[in-house]
Amino acid sequence: MTDGESAPQPLDRNLALHLEGSVVNGLEKWQVSTGLTLTYDRWMTEGRTRAPVAVVLVKGPQLPPLKIILKACPPERLTSREPRLHAQALSGSPSEFVNRHLVDQPFETIECEDKWRVLFQSIAGDSLRLVRPLSSVLQDEGLPELVEYVAKSLLQGWNPEFDTRKVTPYELLRSDLGSKVDRNGPLAKFMQEQGIADTTWVRFSSDLGAVVPNAILWALDSSLWPPETEGFWAHFGHSHGDLHPGNVLIQVDPAPRANDFRLIDLSAYMPNGSLAKDLAHLYLSVIGEHLSSNPVRRKNLLALALGDSQPSSLELRGLREVVARVRRVGAAWQASTMKSRQDDWNDQTALALVAGGLEFVGLRNLGLSQRLWFLQLSCVALGRYLERQNLNTPPADPATVRVVGPLVDPEIELAVERLAERCGDFKGTRSVVAVLMADLSPAASERASKFPWTAVMSFDPELDTTGSLAAARQVSGRVHRLIVSVR
Ligand SMILES: Nc1ncnc2c1ncn2[C@@H]1O[C@H](COP(=O)(O)OP(=O)(O)O)[C@@H](O)[C@H]1O
Ligand SMILES: [Mg+2]
Repeated sequence: MTDGESAPQPLDRNLALHLEGSVVNGLEKWQVSTGLTLTYDRWMTEGRTRAPVAVVLVKGPQLPPLKIILKACPPERLTSREPRLHAQALSGSPSEFVNRHLVDQPFETIECEDKWRVLFQSIAGDSLRLVRPLSSVLQDEGLPELVEYVAKSLLQGWNPEFDTRKVTPYELLRSDLGSKVDRNGPLAKFMQEQGIADTTWVRFSSDLGAVVPNAILWALDSSLWPPETEGFWAHFGHSHGDLHPGNVLIQVDPAPRANDFRLIDLSAYMPNGSLAKDLAHLYLSVIGEHLSSNPVRRKNLLALALGDSQPSSLELRGLREVVARVRRVGAAWQASTMKSRQDDWNDQTALALVAGGLEFVGLRNLGLSQRLWFLQLSCVALGRYLERQNLNTPPADPATVRVVGPLVDPEIELAVERLAERCGDFKGTRSVVAVLMADLSPAASERASKFPWTAVMSFDPELDTTGSLAAARQVSGRVHRLIVSVR
């Protein structure tokens, strides 16, 4: 150390403990050069997250104490871009939208030695108690309205001006998906894992009669699109790029209201993204929260995401309303801004659904069964798009087409489906359903009788007198009663 250079002030131990060495170094130098000190308040992220987020108190001689958010962004491509893209959104968006719906950066980003960056942000709405992610009110009956408000602001408030240009469907899918459709990106990898890397058409076990395009391949390979494919006029402008309910902060107390919502986590921000993309991503991520392995639930949610107007259960009505409202906001916006462009907007939103589904397929930390559901959604949505454009030319015989994902025994699937219908869709808690056959061996019946059932439903009331239900009574002394027989 040379004369006159002050010793770096050690970073608050509570922060240093969970941050990379280079980030700690960077922050210590920052403390020296600014004369400010950072004091730990709390972590906003848990465990081994890629980008730790903390609330810190900043103190300095010229500064009243200030509580802010500190986010350490790792060098990986997507997250490392966040400080730059956030700054770009702040400088390039309409000022009213910036003031109301983005958070500012009270200090410049710190560039650390091994490409880690530290992003400082103001606390959204100045309160961590009153302002919470939209994901914390997903069960609220006002959710459709909240989502509608956000969707409307994105189009009207964030994009009073936008760019309209002619694109082919393939170009739009590529622009929506960005690096996800790189040759060695997550989608290509997923195709390989599922053994469908060269498969233009696929089927899914829940609908074996339907042949649909392999949406990943169609987004990767331009040669699949027939030469007669027509382009259309699409709208581009500010888009968040990762608009899920965890990244929209709203006031939750005394009651949820979206008027002053804030968008955070702008690591996928685009100044010229497709304007239909955020809308699809928002309602798909809300639907994604309700996905389960129950085949009935999966079918219902698929129909709901595709906007099919079949009757849905009371429980799913709120979700249906979320999708309907977002779609209506988009349609009303295009009608008021671009008369006679309805066909083009329909094309753009249809492809946003395809790309939106694929975004989730590309998420490696999502469970396989969820990724497959999103893939099915994208493939069905793309199939419908091709159909409308008269571009759909699937092989005539479905039996020759590869089935993606595990093949579920149709009998078991039917059994679970009927059971689920009887139960009016399981919800909230996790349910394990055992499908027992009457001809289990006595030993198997005895074993089955030991499980701690909470409800007994039977397709075959005989089970109650002869099979494992009877064994439960005789061998294990369990008290249970057949509550419903499903025919
Ligand atoms: N500016 C902010 N104001 C208030 N809370 C914030 C802010 N930034 C982040 N958070 C909180 O931290 C959580 C994680 O931040 P986020 O930037 O979304 O990180 P990740 O990249 O892990 O998704 C958010 O869900 C939110 O609760
Ligand atoms: Mg986030």
